[in-house]
Amino acid sequence: MGLTAGAVVAGNMAAVASETASIPKKKRALRVAHITDVHMRPELDAPARFKKCLEEIKRHKVDFFLNGGDTIYAADYGNITRERVNVQWDIWHQLRDEFSEYEMHSCLGNHDMWWAAPDNKDPMYGKDYVVKQLGIPNRYYSIDKKGWHFIILDSNNKNAGSLDEEQRKWLEGDLGKLATGEPVLIMSHYPLLAACTNLDGGGMHTDYKYLVDLFYQHKDKVKACISGHIHLQDSVTYNGVQYCCNGALSGFWWEEGDKSSAGKCWVQQTPPGYTIIDLYEDGAVENRYIPHSY
Ligand SMILES: [Fe+2]
Repeated sequence: MGLTAGAVVAGNMAAVASETASIPKKKRALRVAHITDVHMRPELDAPARFKKCLEEIKRHKVDFFLNGGDTIYAADYGNITRERVNVQWDIWHQLRDEFSEYEMHSCLGNHDMWWAAPDNKDPMYGKDYVVKQLGIPNRYYSIDKKGWHFIILDSNNKNAGSLDEEQRKWLEGDLGKLATGEPVLIMSHYPLLAACTNLDGGGMHTDYKYLVDLFYQHKDKVKACISGHIHLQDSVTYNGVQYCCNGALSGFWWEEGDKSSAGKCWVQQTPPGYTIIDLYEDGAVENRYIPHSY
């Protein structure tokens, strides 16, 4: 009896081993660095600290960068001068030269726009100037890479954290023309859906119901949505879509923090960091937030 049982166990183990060997290893299509809320500024040694992050990120051998907005510290406050806006963008361009060998696809953050320009005809006023500074084709757009479709949204509209009517139409059309099962990753500045916004006085897209319904119509395609804005890191899965709010590269805007910071430069319990995202041919997504100590 004992012998027979042993033989059965051994037989099963052999079956398991051969099954494991026959499962094809899922193939990675792309590795992307998601940096968000860089908030570049001349103070606090921020440029040099950013360079150190960059050296670290490069070691992950990424294919390209996604930049989630709030690239500069702030242009949106009423007291910001033209000179101050330019200083921040100039530093950013110098830093961008340090990794110019990588493509970068960016979206607009709420702090990137200079609304205090003398008038709305000023070449530096509003979104068009930021689109130019970031070298992107439009305030929203999409690109294709290795079988993956990337949609970059502009959250900065009425009821902040929302899409305007024009952008909704475009998004519906952009998703509608994709082939069945074509995997999609969406990047926005404000989170489309999140839990951490409850810990920071809001900041989630106000049109989340519309977005969830739209993605459900395309549930064979939409795999993940990544964002920033809150400077907190979380991950929510809803209807099979992974929504990742990926902290902030600048942490506490490069500053030491406040009494709610769990560590130096942290926002509440989220350290400063960046995210490495692996995208697979079968549509799987692995989102890894990596804290940095610079
Ligand atoms: Fe921010």
